[in-house]
Amino acid sequence: MTENHRKLFVRSYGCQMNVYDAQRMADALSPAGFVETNRAEDADLIILNTCHIREKAAEKVYSELGRMRVLKAERAEKGQDTMIAVAGCVAQAEGAEIQRRAGGVDLVVGSQSYHRLPDLVACARQGRVVDTEFPVEDKFAHLPAASREKTLARGPAAFLTVQEGCDKFCTFCVVPYTRGAEVSRPVGQIVTEAERLADAGVREITLLGQNVNAFHGEGPDGTAWGLGRLLHRLAEIPGVARLRYTTSHPRDMDDELIAAHRDLPELMPYLHLPVQSGSDRMLEVMNRGHRAEDYLRLIERIRAAQPALALSCDFIVGFPGETDADFEATLDLVRAVGYASSFSFKYSARPGTPASTMDDQVSEAVKSERLQVLQALLEEQRQAFNHSCLHKRMDVLFDRKGRNAGQLAGRSPYLQPVQIEATGVAIGDIAEVEIVEVGANSLFGRLTGARPRSNARMEAVA
Ligand code: SAH
Ligand code: SF4
Ligand code: F3S
Repeated sequence: MTENHRKLFVRSYGCQMNVYDAQRMADALSPAGFVETNRAEDADLIILNTCHIREKAAEKVYSELGRMRVLKAERAEKGQDTMIAVAGCVAQAEGAEIQRRAGGVDLVVGSQSYHRLPDLVACARQGRVVDTEFPVEDKFAHLPAASREKTLARGPAAFLTVQEGCDKFCTFCVVPYTRGAEVSRPVGQIVTEAERLADAGVREITLLGQNVNAFHGEGPDGTAWGLGRLLHRLAEIPGVARLRYTTSHPRDMDDELIAAHRDLPELMPYLHLPVQSGSDRMLEVMNRGHRAEDYLRLIERIRAAQPALALSCDFIVGFPGETDADFEATLDLVRAVGYASSFSFKYSARPGTPASTMDDQVSEAVKSERLQVLQALLEEQRQAFNHSCLHKRMDVLFDRKGRNAGQLAGRSPYLQPVQIEATGVAIGDIAEVEIVEVGANSLFGRLTGARPRSNARMEAVA
């Protein structure tokens, strides 16, 4: 490796927080002379930013490491050194296992140590390093910010982690172990980061947390602020036109946050609110802390605050002990809510979680069958939602070039991709569009020429 210009390749798996972390890792390594590349074969440092949530995701790491080892050998033949690092949730959960199973890994770094990457990389050149501690110092206080140019190049929609970790201990989930206890960043630190983003041209900020609405960061007045209050503060920043937050837990939707959906035009009328199952018995053994009925009432309240609200959700099928009747209850809940979008998974037994040793594990065949039935219903709802947008007008944030020359693509308030013929708008603009055609995965629109409207005045499309 040459000291002053080394190439960095990061591949991320899993949730949006890993996408955010990948950027912060690149920012942390930039002062050490690392420049990002999107070609692994050119990289002096390869970081696999991993996910442990389901078995398939975790296993992917080991096959990818096999490929990276081949790259490393090929580069070595040309006299080039390559360092391979494993970061993220598999690193945190299986540091020792990675060492044992995968040769060629120089560095294993847990998610709370990313600010120490330049040091860890330097040490790893002398020999293998594993750092999966939860250090006492505040990672975020030590992570350098991206340059204005870099922020701009990443596009007008950005992620910002405000809360990390989880204390909920759902019985199927590894997150409380891989990301540790719930920690909220101080409000001042978040505002500074958001101001920097807005100053570089970012128009939309998605606040991230494994349990984002449990946010309770220390405010400038020394009291703990909830997410609703934080959203109000961020909406004041000039240039911030759109706010979102994910992932929220039904138990932490407090009155202040619900009111923010009514009062803040910047807060997009789209909410990812996972329920996992519609069966009270399953919700209980999953340790979700609420019943199906509580969830339905909650949605009624948020919809009352924001009539244009559309919902997205996560579901697990085949949790241990799930009967046909339990599964039917999930289908009933889906029919009762009507989702614009969703993610659904077969239950995957994860080492160390209480559910992995529960009796009555459901067979693969039954899980597959249930998943198919659920996904067919959810897909029907997604299509119905998209079709309900036909002839509606909505604001679109343009964030990339379209499929064909002369086209631009952006996101609706509901995160649907929208394509237009690009005349008079540029990437980073928000413009009002009338939807003229609905495709399988995208909407097609035409500019109305009207000034962008605020979401408070947006027509309900659900
Ligand atoms: N904090 C969020 C979820 C984070 S994990 C929440 O509470 O909803 C993202 C999704 O992965 C979960 O919502 C769940 O649907 C799924 N998931 C988590 N653990 C899983 C497991 N062991 N098997 C299958 N799906 C799982
Ligand atoms: Fe996992 Fe439950 Fe925490 Fe979500 S709330 S991260 S599903 S333990
Ligand atoms: Fe995966 Fe870790 Fe996110 S387990 S879903 S990368 S918090």
